[in-house]
Amino acid sequence: MQDTIAIAIDGPAAAGKSTVAKIVAKELSYVYIDTGAMYRALTLKALRNGARLNVEEDMHQLLMTTTIDLQQTGDGQRVLLDTEDVSLDVRSQEVTTQVSYVAVHGKVREEMVNRQRQLAEKKGVVMDGRDIGTHVIPDAEVKVFLIASVSERAERRHKENMEKGFPSDMEQLKEEIRMRDKIDSEREVSPLVKADDAIEVDTTSLTIDEVANRILSIVQDQLK
Ligand code: CDP
Ligand code: CDP
Repeated sequence: MQDTIAIAIDGPAAAGKSTVAKIVAKELSYVYIDTGAMYRALTLKALRNGARLNVEEDMHQLLMTTTIDLQQTGDGQRVLLDTEDVSLDVRSQEVTTQVSYVAVHGKVREEMVNRQRQLAEKKGVVMDGRDIGTHVIPDAEVKVFLIASVSERAERRHKENMEKGFPSDMEQLKEEIRMRDKIDSEREVSPLVKADDAIEVDTTSLTIDEVANRILSIVQDQLK
C-alpha cells in the first residue's frame, strides 16, 4: 500500500478544480497547489509594469526576476508575489482576461513547470491546472479531468460575483470562458487536453461535495 500519492486535477475555467482540490487536500492532509495562481501572479506583475504580454522574451525575463510563493493556509493558499500578498489581486477581471495570453509562451511555461515540479517533489500533493496530468506530473497516481457546460460554468462565476457584490454579466462571462478555453486548448505548448489515463468527471449537475467524494473514492481505490 502506498502512503501518499500525487493527485492531478485539470480542466477548463470554473469547472470546480480549485474548490474541490482544496477539499480533497484538506481531507487527506495533503498540500494543495494552484498552478493557475502562478500564471496569474506573473500576469499581474506584467500589467502593473506595463510589460508586453505578447512578447515571449519579455515575459520570460520578467518571470526570471520574480518570486512567486504559494503558502498554505487553513483552507486554501495565499499567493505572494515578490513577498506581497496578492491573493485577491490575482483574481481580478483584468488578470483573468489577460492570463491566457501570458500562458501561451513556451519559455514561461518551461520555467513555471520547473517550479511546479519542485513543489510537487514531495508526494502528498493535490495540484490543479491545465497541464498537470499531461505534463507537470505525468506519473501522478490519480488524474482527474473536470468538465462542465459553458452555461453552468458562467452561472457559477456569476453567483460568485453576486456574492462578492461585483458587477456581473452572464453573456460576458460566457464569452470570457469560451475565449479562455479556446486559447488554452489551442496553444502549441502543453495545451489543455485530457490525459489518456485521466478520469473525466462531468460536474455540470454535481454538487461540490459530490465531486469531492468522487475524487476521494478514486484516491481510496488507488491507495488499496
Ligand atoms: O480558476 P480559473 O479556472 O479561472 O483559472 P486558473 O486555474 O487560475 O488559470 C488561469 C489561466 O492560467 C488559465 O486560463 C490558463 O491560461 C493558465 N494556466 C495554464 O496555462 N496552465 C496551468 N497549469 C494553470 C493555468
Ligand atoms: O478552479 P476552477 O476555475 O475550475 O473552478 P472553481 O473556482 O473551483 O469553481 C468555480 C465556482 O463553481 C465556485 O464558486 C464553486 O463554488 C462553484 N462550484 C459549483 O457550484 N459546483 C461544483 N460542482 C464545483 C464548483
